[in-house]
Amino acid sequence: MSGRRLTRRQVVAGGIVGMTSLIAPRGAAEAGATATAAAAGTLTLGGDLVVNRMGFGAMRITGPGIWGEPKDPAEAHRVLRRAVELGVNFIDTADAYGPEVSERLIAEALHPYPQGLVIATKGGLVRPGPSQWVPDGRPEHLREACEASLKRLKLSRIDLYQFHRIDPKVPLEDSIGELARLQKEGKIRHVGVSNFDVAELARARRVTPVVSVQNRYNIADRSSADVLAVCEREHLAFIPWAPIARGSSDTLEGNAASKALDAIAHAHGVSVYQVAIAWLLATPAMLPIPGTSSVAHLEEDVAAAGIKLSATELAAIG
Ligand SMILES: NC(=O)c1ccc[n+]([C@@H]2O[C@H](COP(=O)([O-])OP(=O)(O)OC[C@H]3O[C@@H](n4cnc5c(N)ncnc54)[C@H](OP(=O)(O)O)[C@@H]3O)[C@@H](O)[C@H]2O)c1
Repeated sequence: MSGRRLTRRQVVAGGIVGMTSLIAPRGAAEAGATATAAAAGTLTLGGDLVVNRMGFGAMRITGPGIWGEPKDPAEAHRVLRRAVELGVNFIDTADAYGPEVSERLIAEALHPYPQGLVIATKGGLVRPGPSQWVPDGRPEHLREACEASLKRLKLSRIDLYQFHRIDPKVPLEDSIGELARLQKEGKIRHVGVSNFDVAELARARRVTPVVSVQNRYNIADRSSADVLAVCEREHLAFIPWAPIARGSSDTLEGNAASKALDAIAHAHGVSVYQVAIAWLLATPAMLPIPGTSSVAHLEEDVAAAGIKLSATELAAIG
């Protein structure tokens, strides 16, 4: 990754074309090699859970194809502990990651949990094999999945339980209705949804209050901009997955905004991935959850909480 990061000295020596006139160079210190998640400010989930706006996504601490054990389980434990040390108090996971592996590793590394740590998990996808994800939104499946997550995570209540993806064979009202029942029983504190469009979100909110939406969103893929707008207007958290677009088809490289991104990264003496996270953080409803299997990448990602992009830089990214 450091291949795309330049020191300020290199930037000054090499010069930058195009964007430089728009961007005032800043030092790498500003990126905050030492910045913690708190530098991102906070967001209140469901009116009562205050979390730092820089979260961690625990999907990447499993094996290839998000299947089975990680290559280096000790590093996975270190990543989770380091995230908490760096002030991350919102960790996203799902029963489907591994499956079961991510939730189990979280409990192994962090239980008993520090005060204020919010673990957000999900149900509604089953895994026949590596890289395969099959929706199962039947109420009986969601109940079973939630109860299994409670056990694996060693929790008596899940702070944020997200419906992972709509099952085309099951009306979303039936799936969300079961989460509302689990909430009434005290097994779930707040309900969130994932991979929902605007109309689906409105339908879910007619069944029960929804406090967050987790959709794919990054500089290269803004297809959920309309959902983000609803979240901003209605004070729901928007949790962008694939925040640095490294794990799938669209990438930051070769994108229309990538030239601006490169120039801004050069000017700040940080990586393009850090700028991509800082760009997300510029929207107050946003709670990014960059995912990684390495402590070095985690530290770099969290340090992005300390980068403040100017209005000119934000406009240059578009
Ligand atoms: N709701 C959903 O349907 C859904 C779908 C996908 C993901 N998610 C959630 O969203 C989180 C983030 O999504 P994602 O993991 O797909 O995000 P991403 O933006 O694709 O980034 C993850 C990839 O980037 C690499 N990476 C992370 N930090 C880096 C850095 N500083 N430099 C270079 N490479 C870096 C990671 O590899 P290394 O391990 O080598 O660092 C990993 O392969 C997941 O962990 C999961 O919690 C939700």
